[in-house]
Amino acid sequence: MVSELMRRDSGDMEQNLMRFRAAMSMVFWIVLFPVIQGSMAVTVKNCSYPAVYSFGDSLSDVGNSIAAFPVQFANAELPPNGILFPTHAADRFCDGKLLIDFLAFGVRRRPIYPVLRGISPDFTYGVSFAASGGTARASSTWKRYAGFNSPFSLDVQFEWLERTKVRYSYYERQDPVIVVQSLPTLATLNSSLYVVYAGYQDYFFSLYDSVLSPRETLSIVGSVVDAVVELVENVIEFGGIDLLVINLPPLGCIPAMLTLFLESTPDSYDSRGCLKELNKITTAHNAQLGDAMITLRAKYPTANLYYGDLHGVYTDILSSPKSYNITQPLKACCGVGGYYNFDKKVTCGNTGVIGNEFVNLTETYCANPAGYLSWDGIHTSNALNKAVATDFLSGKHITPDGGLNCSPDFTFWDASF
Ligand SMILES: *[C@@H]1O[C@H](CO)[C@@H](O)[C@H](O)[C@H]1NC(C)=O
Ligand SMILES: *[C@@H]1O[C@H](CO)[C@@H](O)[C@H](O)[C@H]1NC(C)=O
Ligand SMILES: *[C@@H]1O[C@H](CO)[C@@H](O)[C@H](O)[C@H]1NC(C)=O
Ligand SMILES: *[C@@H]1O[C@H](CO)[C@@H](O)[C@H](O)[C@H]1NC(C)=O
Repeated sequence: MVSELMRRDSGDMEQNLMRFRAAMSMVFWIVLFPVIQGSMAVTVKNCSYPAVYSFGDSLSDVGNSIAAFPVQFANAELPPNGILFPTHAADRFCDGKLLIDFLAFGVRRRPIYPVLRGISPDFTYGVSFAASGGTARASSTWKRYAGFNSPFSLDVQFEWLERTKVRYSYYERQDPVIVVQSLPTLATLNSSLYVVYAGYQDYFFSLYDSVLSPRETLSIVGSVVDAVVELVENVIEFGGIDLLVINLPPLGCIPAMLTLFLESTPDSYDSRGCLKELNKITTAHNAQLGDAMITLRAKYPTANLYYGDLHGVYTDILSSPKSYNITQPLKACCGVGGYYNFDKKVTCGNTGVIGNEFVNLTETYCANPAGYLSWDGIHTSNALNKAVATDFLSGKHITPDGGLNCSPDFTFWDASF
């Protein structure tokens, strides 16, 4: 029975979801409960936020962009994306779970669902507004793209939060027989956790698509941080009290960037093998964001404003990859070619020709995804995301000291059935 439930099935998503829910309770008692008992020997209180709300780009998108633009984001639900995610296909650009998944699973034991999902969403424990392609800066000021450009920047994502509140308040007054969906109550909006992880899109893709040079990209840092801060202020004024704002990974250590900006002089690289010039961008972003958080804490003394230093976790791992079981800190797991297993001509999930060779990356990926920090050369891996969530929930690389100060529930963190 259990093995039947746990069988991975690429068929109907709905059916998978039902199986997943059924399997959750069984797996919990039969397989995972003894494990949790061991890892629960923590004295801090259990995480108890009623719900989690998330803002950002493809590093946090759990299905908004594919819901809105099925063609442009088709790969998100196709293998090898989501190979480690329960109820695969996952609609995520990752081998397994995103950082927001680990946080949501850790806080509420459940994933959160994309606001744009029309089929079988479950908003009981929160909503994700994050959308692949979503810039921190308002997309109307971002017209220089030649190709596809997502309109779902942070300003729009905040409007979605406001609409969500309107619907909660409306449905709360309705007859429960008429409103069949279970939703959080309006009152829980103030005590929920709001997670903001944005800006990567603004920098990464302007470089990736050669819209801006590294030097020009450095000059937009102020406006990107301002856009993140504006969202944070909006959420606080909306009623949010607990906010986790996350900084960015070192851009110069990302396989796609290492490949596209390959340098011949050793001087261009730091001791970890990353590109110094690109790292300046994220270092500047993170410093300004960190300063802004201090200012915001003074301005909103009743809010709990957490600053998650994802960059710190990333560089910790780069400094001692073996202690995290990372064997390939600078290579993409799903990719092909070059020093960093990345080639823009054929990226993860696609087929194409490189030189004279036909390359098919629709199913193949590295033998041990857990040994990689980067999944597809662009997005971080399940392994990195889990390491970051573990630190944030246990008080490492997060300020104020103690961080979220609650014990994560690891129950379904590693489930992939
Ligand atoms: C946290 O939750 C677990 C599992 O539900 C429970 O066993 C444990 O006693 C709780 N710990 C605290 C400090 O409330
Ligand atoms: C939530 O916060 C908003 C804005 O600060 C406030 O107007 C509202 O009364 C609060 N709601 C509850 C249930 O505390
Ligand atoms: C690394 O792998 C070993 C052996 O599988 C395991 O015991 C250990 O917990 C892993 N460490 C981390 C940080 O995942
Ligand atoms: C790529 O490989 C997969 C798995 O082997 C196969 O199903 C698919 O048809 C291949 N695509 C092309 C275009 O050959």
